[in-house]
Amino acid sequence: MKHFVSDRAQSFTESVIREMTRICLKHQGVNLAQGFPDFPAPQEIKEAAAEAIRADFNQYAITWGTPRLRQAIAGKFTGYNSVTVDPEREITVCCGSTEAMIASLMAIVNPGEEVIIFEPFYENYGPDSILCGARPRFITLHEPDWHFDGQELAQSFNNKTKAIVLNTPNNPTGKVFSREELQDIADLCLKWNVIAVTDEIYEHILYDGTNHISLASLPGMRDRTITINSISKTYSLTGWRVGWAIASPALTSSIRKVHDFLTVGAPHPLQEAAAAALRMDHLYYQGLAEDYQKRRDFLARVLEEAGFRVYWPRGAYYIMTDVGHWGIRDDVAFAHHLVETIGVATVPGSSFYSHPSLGATKVRFCFPKKMETLEQAAERLRKFKK
Ligand SMILES: Cc1ncc(COP(=O)(O)O)c(C=O)c1O
Repeated sequence: MKHFVSDRAQSFTESVIREMTRICLKHQGVNLAQGFPDFPAPQEIKEAAAEAIRADFNQYAITWGTPRLRQAIAGKFTGYNSVTVDPEREITVCCGSTEAMIASLMAIVNPGEEVIIFEPFYENYGPDSILCGARPRFITLHEPDWHFDGQELAQSFNNKTKAIVLNTPNNPTGKVFSREELQDIADLCLKWNVIAVTDEIYEHILYDGTNHISLASLPGMRDRTITINSISKTYSLTGWRVGWAIASPALTSSIRKVHDFLTVGAPHPLQEAAAAALRMDHLYYQGLAEDYQKRRDFLARVLEEAGFRVYWPRGAYYIMTDVGHWGIRDDVAFAHHLVETIGVATVPGSSFYSHPSLGATKVRFCFPKKMETLEQAAERLRKFKK
């Protein structure tokens, strides 16, 4: 009997996050599930996009990205992340960091090789590993501060380890990896000749004076790190699909080949506008972090008052909560119950774990929303009867 669906496609499920968004629409709920802003993107960036279309940047760009955008990425990476980079040979512009991640993993991993992933993890990394034939190895981030055990990490490296995926600031936990933690990871990468693939798309969304450090800026790591980023979160442009991977020339030429045959390129006029976005001054980033801090403080307090156990994030725009103390052991049923009864959509915790049981008492809220949307959610959450 011939199966038309591939074993690969069968080995992972549809995205729970996107599914929750659809259920939310059905119940006309407040969507605190999928992490996208409901407020407008900055006016000057939208103008730059309209101008790029009028100026006829409407055909394919160079497959690895328009020169203006690559120069802007290089300038920003040096200025904010303290790493110099050659825009000609070390940057690949992709369709969002989503494509940058899968293209990077496909460019470096052979079937059967191992990839280390911190758990809980952004749900894409699971299917990403399957699609490139990698064997994922999960390292627990321990609550409440989401630290990892250095010994457990050391023991997970071996001769088959090809890469480690790191997301800081982290979705879903809000953890921001410290310099000491990054140094431990760097030491192991150097010892075992492993490549780090870092997803840094929340690098400007930081709270309580926390700093973001790029792994590539640590000694010896520049040429063995692939740094992934995009305009989605920093400039509230999740629908534009412009992201990039920064890597050494040898890794970049492999990433560029995979990228070219996957998508050819990201939308040309939006790449031109992204170059304008990356040149925003420091006040923009300061305002972004301050606004998010107000939203975080508001929603975290509302959730605590409603009885959720809240893990206060130090970065990114999600709040992981635990409801185990209410006797709840089925996060999926609980998330459905929340959206059906009070109209607030969340993501069941199990979507961030390799084994659903590990996230069975957790739900994740996101808060890239107007204050009035969060107030609506708060009103509904106050009515929630455990
Ligand atoms: C950690 C992380 N990486 C990547 C993405 C997707 O980013 P992009 O829109 O650049 O593909 C998300 C979106 O929620 C995310 O949380």
